[in-house]
Amino acid sequence: MSFNTILTSQENNAFIITINRENKLNALNRETLQEIKSAVLSVQDNKSVRGIIITGSGLKAFAAGADISEFASYSIQQGAQLSADGHSVMNTIENSAIPVIAAINGYSLGGGCELAMACHIRIAAENAKFGQPEVNLGLPPGYAGTQRLVQLIGKGKALELLLTTDFINATQALELGMVSKIVTLEQLLPTCLEMVDVFSTKSLSAIASVIKCVNDHFKSTTPGFETEISEFGKAFQTEDFIEGTLAFSEKRKPNF
Ligand code: COA
Repeated sequence: MSFNTILTSQENNAFIITINRENKLNALNRETLQEIKSAVLSVQDNKSVRGIIITGSGLKAFAAGADISEFASYSIQQGAQLSADGHSVMNTIENSAIPVIAAINGYSLGGGCELAMACHIRIAAENAKFGQPEVNLGLPPGYAGTQRLVQLIGKGKALELLLTTDFINATQALELGMVSKIVTLEQLLPTCLEMVDVFSTKSLSAIASVIKCVNDHFKSTTPGFETEISEFGKAFQTEDFIEGTLAFSEKRKPNF
């Protein structure tokens, strides 16, 4: 399987997906999202893969969000579809029977933070930074950030981060339970590979069951996923969205 915007490789029992748009801080365009989804699905029946690692190319970013340049002129329907497609990618990762680790090497913002949160485990490099800056663009998060952030760190702190758009560093993310551990950038991939080695010594079927059970814990209480898709779509015809995305492309602060 060949891809345009991601790199894939296998190291022992680990399947590594690297988002390969370094000059755009690994921003997730539609193609990248679909390629990540295809890559995750492609190894589900491969018995030699016991863990999937998702990371970003370069030293600066895991992923700096959805690709803003791609959706500036979207209609309400296109916005809602973008969100629904993003949810589908994140759900594919979350429902992977093989554990998925986010190896977070820098900015993990917006869609990048949502991607990390869809993974089963997050390991942060010391330079990791997390945030959901969407309201600066006149948008709510669209790839399930409003739901998984609450699941991970609780409603109060999640609302604070969503509404202020403050970034948090790796230490704060560890304190909030957003990441499992912090390591140096050099140790990031080796640490994730060691964890996959541990998975490799466990029962494949029992691991798949644990993932299913833990995911099901949240299923009956999450109508907000659908609400997010609809609210994200509606934002696309607001003056604030036009101003927010224009301000980003003109590298200035939005005037709401
Ligand atoms: N979508 C599209 N392009 C993006 C992007 C995104 N989410 N994030 C970064 N880029 C691009 C920049 O436009 C720039 O491209 P250019 O060199 O062609 O102008 C390149 O990546 C480097 O980014 P730059 O802003 O110059 O780096 P920086 O170090 O000054 O700032 C950030 C880093 C992460 C703070 C800043 O890029 C940023 O705020 N990104 C957007 C974050 C965001 O709002 N994400 C949510 C999207 S829904």
